[in-house]
Amino acid sequence: FKIWQQNDDGGMQSMERRLPSALIVGVRKGGTRALLDAIGLHPKVRIVRRETHFFDSNYSLGFDWYKSQMPHVESDDEVVIEKTPAYFTNENVPKRVFDWNPDMKLILIVRHPVYRTISDFTQVYYNKLEQNKSLPVLSIEAFRTDDVTGDESINMEYKPMTNSLYDVHISKWLKYFKIHNFLLVNGDVFRANPLHELRRVEEFLGLERAITPSQLVFDYQKGFFCFRKTTKIRCLGESKGRKHRSISNDVIEKLSRMFEEHNQNFFQLINRSFQWD
Ligand code: A3P
Repeated sequence: FKIWQQNDDGGMQSMERRLPSALIVGVRKGGTRALLDAIGLHPKVRIVRRETHFFDSNYSLGFDWYKSQMPHVESDDEVVIEKTPAYFTNENVPKRVFDWNPDMKLILIVRHPVYRTISDFTQVYYNKLEQNKSLPVLSIEAFRTDDVTGDESINMEYKPMTNSLYDVHISKWLKYFKIHNFLLVNGDVFRANPLHELRRVEEFLGLERAITPSQLVFDYQKGFFCFRKTTKIRCLGESKGRKHRSISNDVIEKLSRMFEEHNQNFFQLINRSFQWD
């Protein structure tokens, strides 16, 4: 039984909202927005456009508030998906999600950690530029040098670095969920060949294959795929797929070295590996 209401075009619209049955939990700068928009091309998927931050910052507002953020659904077989990349790295979120729904479908899109860090740093850099604040330098922010030994290590207080320690974050989720609750999406593959990963997402969500190649249109100017839901083709905004700050090869090598052990741990935890050499 559904309540219907007339919409602005004179048609009827269901007023029912439904809590999500899948969450894109991260990773920040992994391609979360593009993945959400792309899976939203499926006729049975309803996406939550804005990041609700329910399980991290807005939890005290309660589930009625969370539901009020959801899109309207019209049939029982529609799947609602929300994405908030801050979920992956927030300490409180795994337990809260598990307590609510231990069978939750969790989607994590990961990307080469070095380039994810540079992307994260680039975003922080431009945010500071807009706010007229002093501009960060990656090599200074990312590493710490021990005063006595002179050894360099990851600056654990610098988020663009720690956000790339996928093993640390997934471990916190695996205290509650099994790895089969997760679908790991390869962000580097998704960017170049979205359909390849979208087929996996469709299957994970129990949906028929319905996204077609004609809905994914490569835009040569942007250098990324754009998405066609009806007739209009929509590309992501300027902050998605922008030119990275240039980083020296030395720093890139150092980042690779620092992440190496964490990557290996991550592969063990997820029973899968990525080509992140
Ligand atoms: P860069 O800006 O570093 O290239 P998120 O949405 O999680 O913040 O991720 C942003 C990243 O999505 C971008 O990082 C970009 O590489 C990636 N991406 C993947 N597919 C994309 C697409 N079709 N359009 C724009 N960005 C896309």
